[in-house]
Amino acid sequence: MVGGMWVGALSLTSRVVRNSGSEENLPWPHYPWTHTGIFQSFDTAAIRRGFEVYRQVCSTCHSLDYIHYRNLVGVSHTKEQAVALAGTIEVDDGPDDKGEMFKRPGILTDHMPKPYPNDNFARSANNGALPPDLSLITKARPAGVDYLFSLLTGYGRDAPAGIKVRDGMSYNPYFPGALISMPPPLVDGQVDYEDGTPSTVSQMAKDVAVFLNWCAEPDHDERKRLGFKSLLPLIAMTCFAGYYKKNKWNVLKNRRVGWVAPAKTAGH
Ligand code: HEC
Repeated sequence: MVGGMWVGALSLTSRVVRNSGSEENLPWPHYPWTHTGIFQSFDTAAIRRGFEVYRQVCSTCHSLDYIHYRNLVGVSHTKEQAVALAGTIEVDDGPDDKGEMFKRPGILTDHMPKPYPNDNFARSANNGALPPDLSLITKARPAGVDYLFSLLTGYGRDAPAGIKVRDGMSYNPYFPGALISMPPPLVDGQVDYEDGTPSTVSQMAKDVAVFLNWCAEPDHDERKRLGFKSLLPLIAMTCFAGYYKKNKWNVLKNRRVGWVAPAKTAGH
């Protein structure tokens, strides 16, 4: 019975249990992100660097359909910077008044460009595997941002004996099944950060993980702020209710109920 309770308690707390989808997996560690605490918000400098990593590296294979250039405004970029960034892409538009399709430079309401015209094209370019859209990826995997960082930094190890790594696959112990069709996407110094941060693999993995976490939860900071604001009156009301209860019950709590024997009357 006691043993059973321990197993029950462990299954609630242990990350190993949460990660037991596949036996070949390494459990992903829990990293001290600066935005996951109750009162913490996103590091916008990391979002900006992470966007650069996405743009220069991941966007060659992955789409980001739900993120538009306008979403960056006021978060990681100013409006002018976002307009300039959008202007660097070419978008198919039309038909115009002659019924013809045309190309135009991107504008704020365009979403990030897709790397491939459709899923079949994407598969044929990636050894049969489909690079998923990354807009909601931190929501779509159980450990979200922790998993993403582990996955991106999990390359470069020798596969254990017994695991055969086929051509076009890589060994990555954090990926379910441990064999992934995504080649190692990051190498040291790959991205030139404008703020001078050294672009090591772990730095880029961290930044792009924060960026993709923001993509999946753009309302994250506002949600926490509103949550805290709505808790304040609740705390005040709880204090008031406590005080009120004490006040009302005071009369009863201080009352002593006793029994007094009736006085004996003469003659009995
Ligand atoms: C050369 C193409 C390529 C590049 C560049 C690339 N990926 Fe991938 N990625 C893939 C493919 C292919 C898959 C599907 C892998 C599979 O299913 O085996 C994938 C899968 C993924 C997955 C899903 C893993 C899962 O749990 O299903 C994530 C997350 C991911 N990539 C993130 C990134 C990030 C972040 C970057 C940029 C730092 C990046 N990728 C760059 C090709 C790429």
